[in-house]
Amino acid sequence: MDKTDITDPAAVLAAKSAVPRHVAVIMDGNGRWARSRGLPRIAGHRKGVERVREMVTACVEKGVTHLTLFAFSSENWRRPAQEVQLLKELFLTALENEIRKLHKNNVLFHVIGDIGRFGEKITARIQQAETLTRDNTALMLTIAANYGGRWDIAQACAELARRAVRGEIDPGSITEESLDPFLSMAGIPEPDLFIRTGGEQRVSNFLLWQLAYTEMYFTPVLWPDFDRAQFEQALVSFAGRQRRFGLTGEQIEAARHA
Ligand code: IPE
Ligand code: IPE
Ligand code: MG
Repeated sequence: MDKTDITDPAAVLAAKSAVPRHVAVIMDGNGRWARSRGLPRIAGHRKGVERVREMVTACVEKGVTHLTLFAFSSENWRRPAQEVQLLKELFLTALENEIRKLHKNNVLFHVIGDIGRFGEKITARIQQAETLTRDNTALMLTIAANYGGRWDIAQACAELARRAVRGEIDPGSITEESLDPFLSMAGIPEPDLFIRTGGEQRVSNFLLWQLAYTEMYFTPVLWPDFDRAQFEQALVSFAGRQRRFGLTGEQIEAARHA
């Protein structure tokens, strides 16, 4: 696992980079964007897909290597059935229309979440897209769909428990690191920058485990309005922060001058 040794100030400092390696985004505000224009909510979701395209390009250009987008939470099934159905259709259309382009742009496409619930057609498309793009290296694009942070931790614990029952793991020796290989984001560096558009300042059951030391950026801008200039503002905010991982600012400064 590509992780910073947070007990070593020099390593912490080395990890401080002006550009985040991994950006995780809650793309919120599509519905409000549409309603404010007298349009159906789905129009906001459609516009949101365009912003995803733009964001992928911007990440490749800026040198961000991992982009994780929250597309559908495990709680979003509670929405009106018609909106859920339209979102599923939009997801399928986006899968069909965008994957070739992503592949051409050397983007690795990956989905996390309990995707079986979307049905066979979407599941098959996802698998095809993942297989097609598995060796790409410009950017790893992860879409969280029917994803919940609590689900993720619970399913990783269940896998650990199964191995313990089989006698492969000693429960007494389980550490935080033991869980890592079974989490959906196994082997992927933790997000450096979290962005939530749409004005709400909450995590809404996104990557609960992985956000432990992520820099948070909240903006009132609605996702369909979150353009490249908005993203650049988030990157500037990130670049101006001192990540301390529990250390003091003086320790970080001393390591910089060592
Ligand atoms: C986020 O936009 C997209 C999804 C949750 C699928 P919303 O649909 O939550 O938009 P608002 O929050 O109602 O404006
Ligand atoms: C979070 O947005 C999920 C996604 C963006 C996919 P929501 O709009 O569902 O979040 P809450 O319900 O307002 O917290
Ligand atoms: Mg919302």
